[in-house]
Amino acid sequence: MNVMKLQAKSGSTKVIFSDFERFLSTIRGRAKVLLVTDENVLWIYGDKMNDLDMIVIEAGESAKTLRSVERIYEYLLEYSVDRSSMIVGVGGGAVSDVTGFAASTFMRGIPFGFAPTTLLAQVDASIGGKNGVNFRGFKNMIGTVRQPEFCLIDFSFLKTLPSDQLMSGMAEVIKCGVILNNKLFEYLEENHSPILSLDDQSLAYAVSETISAKISVVGKDETDNGERMKLNFGHTVGHAIEKVSGLPHGHSIAIGMVAESRLAARKGFLPIAEVLRIEELLKAIGLPTRSGTSSTDVLEAISKDKKSSGDSINIALPEKIGNGIIYKIKKQELKYAVQEVCK
Ligand code: GLY
Repeated sequence: MNVMKLQAKSGSTKVIFSDFERFLSTIRGRAKVLLVTDENVLWIYGDKMNDLDMIVIEAGESAKTLRSVERIYEYLLEYSVDRSSMIVGVGGGAVSDVTGFAASTFMRGIPFGFAPTTLLAQVDASIGGKNGVNFRGFKNMIGTVRQPEFCLIDFSFLKTLPSDQLMSGMAEVIKCGVILNNKLFEYLEENHSPILSLDDQSLAYAVSETISAKISVVGKDETDNGERMKLNFGHTVGHAIEKVSGLPHGHSIAIGMVAESRLAARKGFLPIAEVLRIEELLKAIGLPTRSGTSSTDVLEAISKDKKSSGDSINIALPEKIGNGIIYKIKKQELKYAVQEVCK
């Protein structure tokens, strides 16, 4: 069993690479362990865990509401859950976001952990302590930063993932390569086929390198005021595309990465040859690099983003593959970047 440790100011997380069934057997005897999962995960893995106390929320982003959090609170009250209890979110990013938020606010915080079942959740959503829900159409508008006690990574969950969800998660892996880890990027260029065929060794390398890069960033800047902002590469444009088009998160981020790489090239940071390498890798994974969405609508959505205020915006741009910088740009400059990838 391989373990990595994330040490942040508010707490630490053990990232444990192990087997979900073995993990369940270790929590079975424990008092008041409550699982939070969604309908899809229950459908596939219910037989492994339905002897445990469980609350089931709806599947997907639509579950990221205060109403879901309230339902979890109601259940916690009903089961007399207290600070000696443990809540475990078993599912994708929406499950970890909602579970982490409910656990970190109930009684001002009770212990929680995650067993992420999607690639996106394994490499991003479940690591780093950002928990929260959407509000009035704004993504992750209400939330906390509080670290889970553990995160159980079982690669075998990925074997049941629909291919579009695997690709969506790969966008976050590629992001990490572009902005933090050149070696990972080169590995992905050479090994995208075995990864997509779910070859154990290649998948394990890509996932653990991505997690390790994120652990190191969050360890330096848990609250997203400096280094962690680099993880937002592709997301300024990508979140807006996601909101306007309804494309999956990773697919939108892929297009956002192209727009923001092209902006980096326009500013003279990133050679155009590197932009083309990024686009080639995204295409090789099966991710889109352009969107049929209206650039006017996307720019409007960017201006309403919670991270956006005034005329300027901080954005993560690659200065070369494997190294990102945070740069303040005029919002106006995003117009050209968006127009390069949207209609
Ligand atoms: N998903 C970006 C972050 O955790 O900061």
